[in-house]
Amino acid sequence: MQIITSEKWNNHTAITEFILLGFGEAHEFQILLFLLFLVIYILTMTGNILIVILVVSDQHLRTPMYYFLGNLSFLEVCYSSTIVPKMLARFLTGDKSISAWGCFMQLFSFGCLASVECYLLSVMSFDRYVAICKPLHYATIMNGKVVLYLLVGCWLCAASISVLTVSMVSQLSFCGPKEIDHFFCDFSPLLQLSCSDISHIKLLPFIFGPIDILPPFILTITSYVCIITAILRISSTTGRQKAFAACSSHLIVVSIFYGTLTIVYILPNTSTLRELKKVFSVPYTVLTPMVNPLIYSLRNEEVKKCLKRILHRFICFNEIKRLNPLLLRRG
Ligand SMILES: *[C@@H]1O[C@H](CO)[C@@H](O)[C@H](O)[C@H]1NC(C)=O
Repeated sequence: MQIITSEKWNNHTAITEFILLGFGEAHEFQILLFLLFLVIYILTMTGNILIVILVVSDQHLRTPMYYFLGNLSFLEVCYSSTIVPKMLARFLTGDKSISAWGCFMQLFSFGCLASVECYLLSVMSFDRYVAICKPLHYATIMNGKVVLYLLVGCWLCAASISVLTVSMVSQLSFCGPKEIDHFFCDFSPLLQLSCSDISHIKLLPFIFGPIDILPPFILTITSYVCIITAILRISSTTGRQKAFAACSSHLIVVSIFYGTLTIVYILPNTSTLRELKKVFSVPYTVLTPMVNPLIYSLRNEEVKKCLKRILHRFICFNEIKRLNPLLLRRG
């Protein structure tokens, strides 16, 4: 990509790297941020990898809901790994540069995975809607084929939008300055650095944003409204409270994800709003992948049981290994 684009830059001095300014300069602050994001990243990885292992290895979790949860966790692992490791390295070394190729790759992978996340969250809320409001038809509506189609559909939609966007951005000329005032290569901060005519590309978020965010968001909200109405009809108070607590926590996390994403893409790119946009980017880039396993999976009774089973097996296994030499000696 770099070679093709640098041919296009023949009128300008080609920029081969960008500088990601991140969160300011103060050294102590960088170390604090490093520790904070390191803890977040470790929690994110541990939680999500644990769930992928549970879903893949446990026969009790072979239903569409757990397939979706497993796929969501797998997505979160990739999603936070497109941004956080590079960010940690920058905090630690102070080297804020990123190659143009790396920057476009980050733009692509992050854009693609964020869109998949939008679609997947809405598909998951639809799955819960069918399970709770149409329980008799659940098995026919959510069969293995439909689950597969839904998952593939999420990825195809997201990937095609991102390929289109990034191929257009990579055609632009960048002739300096090369400082991106953000903590990752995002669309609009990158666009601002271009010296080409960006009037048509500027419209992309207004075309793709609604495709990416609006349908999944509406589907999610509608599903949850139907679910909550169904829950309010449950006669037992404890059952109602439990179901309501689970649903409202999903709804809060989903709203924060879509809400902050929308705010960042809607707010104009003025210098006063830029810091605000940076802060509003943190929830959907870094925090959602960390809290999703806690909210969706680790509160779930069945997942908790599986976790206990696996831990139990693990401890038994170690116990047997420890006792074995004694047993052998005695024998
Ligand atoms: C993703 O979903 C498919 C079902 O379509 C399932 O076979 C697969 O195990 C899931 N992946 C994970 C990591 O859970």
